Amino acid sequence: MKAVVGLLVLLVRVSHGVETHCDGRQDRAQCFGVLGGSIDIQLMNGTSEIHKYKYLKNSLVLLYVSDKQVLSNTIGHRSLIFHVNGTFRINNLSSNDSGIYTLQTFDAAARSTGEWTLQLFIQAPVSSVLLVSECLSQGERRVSCSSEGGDSPQYSWTLDGRTLTDAELLSVNNETNIITLKQHVSGRLVCSVRNYISNVSKEERISICGERTL
Ligand SMILES: *[C@@H]1O[C@H](CO)[C@@H](O)[C@H](O)[C@H]1NC(C)=O
Ligand SMILES: *[C@@H]1O[C@H](CO)[C@@H](O)[C@H](O)[C@H]1NC(C)=O
Ligand SMILES: *[C@@H]1O[C@H](CO)[C@@H](O)[C@H](O)[C@H]1NC(C)=O
Ligand SMILES: *[C@@H]1O[C@H](CO)[C@@H](O)[C@H](O)[C@H]1NC(C)=O
Ligand SMILES: *[C@@H]1O[C@H](CO)[C@@H](O)[C@H](O)[C@H]1NC(C)=O
Ligand SMILES: *[C@@H]1O[C@H](CO)[C@@H](O)[C@H](O)[C@H]1NC(C)=O
Repeated sequence: MKAVVGLLVLLVRVSHGVETHCDGRQDRAQCFGVLGGSIDIQLMNGTSEIHKYKYLKNSLVLLYVSDKQVLSNTIGHRSLIFHVNGTFRINNLSSNDSGIYTLQTFDAAARSTGEWTLQLFIQAPVSSVLLVSECLSQGERRVSCSSEGGDSPQYSWTLDGRTLTDAELLSVNNETNIITLKQHVSGRLVCSVRNYISNVSKEERISICGERTL
């Protein structure tokens, strides 16, 4: 009789709600938003000293503001500008919102006073992780990890909270996310799948193949 029923735990680590914040005052910032969520981009400290500014996405003008008057906003139906604290909020993010954003500021004489860029990445969170393990004929254990939902998932493994060593691993395939463990290996095996905005893991308590568990 085989007894390979493991303890399965799903831990979800999705960033708070689906709202993210981005400090665009840092030039060349990298920011992350959640698909369908919203992002607050802090463009500047406040607009009191800035007469005019343009906000560009991939070199096309998205927003044009002069003396607190919004002269154009191509995504006006799903964005808000808070002049008091220099924040631009974009709602209902789609993958199309990923790109390079550039803030250009101007003084009263329309002379350029500065330029800041940031790169925005919109990702879907990892929604589930599946771990499948089986004993091979020589007592090795093959474990595969797969995930659903997330963009650009990165996989990692731990055994009892630390990285797997060559003494425990017979083989690793980074493309299929299948590992083969040596005969004597047992413990709490965890596969974590993460991207910029989420981290989901699944664990299984693995016993030595061929050993009976009560
Ligand atoms: C915003 O304020 C901080 C601290 O007061 C200052 O260091 C920074 O230069 C300001 N940034 C801009 C873009 O004006
Ligand atoms: C800017 O103001 C808006 C509206 O009051 C607020 O929701 C947002 O959190 C503020 N952002 C910052 C960075 O202070
Ligand atoms: C959000 O955007 C999608 C398309 O990207 C659209 O189908 C949906 O209706 C929008 N939702 C809201 C609440 O505006
Ligand atoms: C994304 O952008 C492309 C090209 O600009 C456009 O055809 C498409 O409708 C956009 N999709 C959404 C969901 O806005
Ligand atoms: C597989 O991934 C691990 C960890 O990311 C890395 O150290 C190793 O070099 C990769 N092996 C191959 C063959 O890509
Ligand atoms: C992902 O979550 C797991 C389990 O909660 C944790 O051990 C790991 O450090 C996390 N990784 C990152 C990159 O946050």
